[in-house]
Amino acid sequence: MARILLNNVSKQYGKFKELAVKDFNLDINDQEFLVFLGPSGCGKSTTLRMVAGLEDVSKGEIYIGDNLVNDIPPKDRDISMVFQNYALYPNLTVYENIAFGLRIRKIPKHEIEDAVKRAARVLEIGAFLDRKPRELSGGQRQRVALGRAIVRQPQAFLMDEPLSNLDAKLRVQMRAEIIRLHRSMGVTTIYVTHDQIEAMTMGDRIVVMNRGIIQQVDSPEEIYNRPTNMFVAKFIGNQPMNFFKGTIREIDGHIRFFTKAFNLRLTDQQANMMRNKRLHDYEVVMGIRPEHMGFEKELFETYPHATIEAFLQFNEFIGSDHYYHLDSHGKESFIVRAHPRARYDEGAKVRVAVDMDKALFFDRDSEELLTD
Ligand SMILES: Nc1ncnc2c1ncn2[C@@H]1O[C@H](COP(=O)(O)OP(=O)(O)OP(=O)(O)O)[C@@H](O)[C@H]1O
Ligand SMILES: [Mg+2]
Repeated sequence: MARILLNNVSKQYGKFKELAVKDFNLDINDQEFLVFLGPSGCGKSTTLRMVAGLEDVSKGEIYIGDNLVNDIPPKDRDISMVFQNYALYPNLTVYENIAFGLRIRKIPKHEIEDAVKRAARVLEIGAFLDRKPRELSGGQRQRVALGRAIVRQPQAFLMDEPLSNLDAKLRVQMRAEIIRLHRSMGVTTIYVTHDQIEAMTMGDRIVVMNRGIIQQVDSPEEIYNRPTNMFVAKFIGNQPMNFFKGTIREIDGHIRFFTKAFNLRLTDQQANMMRNKRLHDYEVVMGIRPEHMGFEKELFETYPHATIEAFLQFNEFIGSDHYYHLDSHGKESFIVRAHPRARYDEGAKVRVAVDMDKALFFDRDSEELLTD
């Protein structure tokens, strides 16, 4: 078990000009479960592979525990890795694949057997222990790869999309198993995914990445509620956050946010921030999640000066909720999440209240969150 530290780490592949990872600084706590989240090609696997020692570090330093590992070969780093493309030994059975790392460490045979059987039970692959990898489905192979990693207690687990080939139900189940394992073993873990639900539910902290650059490192709650920029705001959330372009103006002593279709009065705190920053006539983007707008009476009572008139274009009913797609005066469209009991017909004219305390304002050019 160990703390993992990345200091100004960059990666350049061969002669490619653009860096795959740019100036990464990250301090991962001992026993932490840290998630790398970001779109395809943002540098998640590259970073993980540098920690594992499978890629050279172009610049910077990586520490595992107290050891600078830049020049230490992978086998001496005491890490256990699950690859994105599982890389099993094709000529070994499932049992032998899982046992491999223990055998080369000369662990007694009965201990190996116990460990393999325990892992196989957790991963529901006990029935396939005698098969070769080619005789398994993709999802089964992926679980064998996971099994091979979890039979030992290394300094760190490095997992690269270990659940990507599983069906939805198995994925939820394995997600819970991995967390349970983590709680019981307490091994520092870096977990790569591009699935934001996985990141939110599993991570102690999430590192959101884009184009090789860290965008934000925070707890799931902070990432969800206080995204540092519009990229993070867009990347997190089941339904996308609503964005409105508009201008901050002071009228009759109140600071309001004006779009082409409507205007909303800011909370006192937001108004003070805009005043302190002298942001009159300032162009911003307002972000608000679908669950922070609604039709409930209390919302209208709390925010009487932050309501929007709109037409209901269509309704996505997903069982637990309605997602209403609305249009305001043909100029702004947005999505509102509502309770299944709140029924409106398509084409209806409605008024929606905005939970302004949840509204976020971003600079229109830099796309950074405006904060006090
Ligand atoms: N061996 C390589 N040679 C050159 N460029 C590479 C190599 N491996 C990766 N890259 C590039 O580095 C960038 C980061 O790749 P990486 O595999 O780390 O992305 P990722 O975040 O893991 O994406 P995915 O979610 O698709 O797995 C990409 O632009 C990719 O094209
Ligand atoms: Mg990858």
